[in-house]
Amino acid sequence: MRKADYSKISASYDKGRSLSESNIEIWLALISKYIGPRKGLTLLDLGCGTGRFALPIANRLNCRVVGADYSKEMLAKAQEKDIKGVVTWDYENAQNLTYRDATFDVVFMSHLLHHVDSPARVFTECKRILTTSGVILVRYGAIEQIRHDVEHTFFPEALSIDEARTPTIAMVEKWLTDAGFSDITTEEVVQQTFETSIAHLESAKVKNTSVLTMISQEAFDKGIDSMSEYIRKNQDDPWLLFDRLTLTVGYNSSLK
Ligand SMILES: C[S@@+](CC[C@H](N)C(=O)[O-])C[C@H]1O[C@@H](n2cnc3c(N)ncnc32)[C@H](O)[C@@H]1O
Repeated sequence: MRKADYSKISASYDKGRSLSESNIEIWLALISKYIGPRKGLTLLDLGCGTGRFALPIANRLNCRVVGADYSKEMLAKAQEKDIKGVVTWDYENAQNLTYRDATFDVVFMSHLLHHVDSPARVFTECKRILTTSGVILVRYGAIEQIRHDVEHTFFPEALSIDEARTPTIAMVEKWLTDAGFSDITTEEVVQQTFETSIAHLESAKVKNTSVLTMISQEAFDKGIDSMSEYIRKNQDDPWLLFDRLTLTVGYNSSLK
């Protein structure tokens, strides 16, 4: 599988993927809903990148947070932002974790699955490191949600890469079931990722999604031109502002 190079992406990742306060609130509320009222839980943000989620989770939910990632450069960016040292940052391969069995109460992951060779193996590892009452929360853009989004429309080369590496919701649910998770539920979350269409264009210009770093320069330039042209004519089209995402949740032991 072709891999995005996060040693390079780390430099501009936060510029292209800033998370607004209202989006942070949406996701923290969802995480709280699924982890319940228990206090002092230990949460692993797997594939944490620059800590977009690990930091607000540690600062605002009553959890002890570990952020793990397989890119030293992404972890360095995360650590730079963690001035108060609220998160423990670990260099880990999600497919072969070094944590002991039953170390965490919660595993959260965002946009990780399409980067790994074996998502099934990641889920087996998550099952192993979760406590018996543990919960896994998987945030991702399923292929059926992203196929017609802005990036995949204006950058067709990106679509062929993502068609090959991005799972459907059914695939994620099956991997979780096969790994032994129970009570699996999925919900779609629509978030306003961009305040304006110009902000979206600026974000695309810094290659806001990893797949834009994987296409040819020619395809990238062509895509930016067509996106600019579309925005010039349809500045207020909400399609330019909103993203459809999925949260799939599973429990280590059945709730029944
Ligand atoms: C799209 S970024 C998502 C980062 C973060 N979760 C977020 O939503 O902002 C994907 C992250 O997965 C990490 N990653 C890729 N393969 C990995 C692996 N095998 N184990 C752990 N992290 C991995 C990359 O280094 C990168 O930081």
